[in-house]
Amino acid sequence: MARIISGTELSETMRAEIAAEAARFRERAGRAPGLAAVLVGNHPASEVYVRMKEKAAAAAGFYSARIDLPETVAEADLLRLVEQLNADPRVHGILVQLPLPAQIATRRVLERVDVAKDVDGFHPVNVGRLAMGDPDVLPPCTPAGVVEMLLRSGYDPAGRRVVIVGRSNIVGRPLALLLLRTGRGGNATVTVAHSRTRDLAAVTREAEILIAAVGRPGLVTRDMVRAGAVVIDVGVNRVDDPGSGRGYRLVGDVAFDEVAQVAEAISPVPGGVGPMTITMLLRNTLEAARRLEADGRP
Ligand code: GUN
Repeated sequence: MARIISGTELSETMRAEIAAEAARFRERAGRAPGLAAVLVGNHPASEVYVRMKEKAAAAAGFYSARIDLPETVAEADLLRLVEQLNADPRVHGILVQLPLPAQIATRRVLERVDVAKDVDGFHPVNVGRLAMGDPDVLPPCTPAGVVEMLLRSGYDPAGRRVVIVGRSNIVGRPLALLLLRTGRGGNATVTVAHSRTRDLAAVTREAEILIAAVGRPGLVTRDMVRAGAVVIDVGVNRVDDPGSGRGYRLVGDVAFDEVAQVAEAISPVPGGVGPMTITMLLRNTLEAARRLEADGRP
């Protein structure tokens, strides 16, 4: 049976470290690191994520603001809010929860966020810096969480064959860029597989570290995993479960029980990458606050 890589436990340790650093920042700067989370509409999963981000920020001693806008909001109104947050001295990190409703051009919203307050790492300038291997860019939270889980569990990706399944802008693509950088958490040999990959199982069996980020429950089965591989499951999928109180349960992209029989280590869903994403958001917000303060920005 594989060792379990618990994002919940790692997050507990890291959030205590971040809270201690936030307290030092408050003493030095006379104010708290601040995070603003914007939720448009009431997409059920997004509501859960935003609530968790807001709570985690407050628990770490941050200033935490949440702004809810109706599903029907005009793009111009959302852009105006982003500009207000850009100018708000209490706010060091801005997060606009995705996906956004169809009447809003996501790209225009992401481009409007102040590059220095872009704690999601979604602004094209920051994506470009990441693609160029910049060691100082604030990394996107979910990819950074995956790398941190590997490092803190003793699986440095340097020199290893990593296969990522999924090429989304939020996870697969930026994770590949992060793993390709030189320096801490990088230097991996990276393959990105996706829905058009031929003989996916042959590709994934090459992986010493296998990362699933597609959003298809149970996609990665035992026959696709090399014996002794480290498996990180980024998928969060709701599947019907009439027996549970909510009528559904959360599962990952990996068929956990069978893959756990061949893997050396595996991350669970829930309790794996999810909490780490939020922890990395706190880390980015603290870092953004330090940089804005150092640059003398109000
Ligand atoms: N939607 C899914 N993941 C994320 C994320 O990390 N940040 C934001 N803003 N939206 C998301």
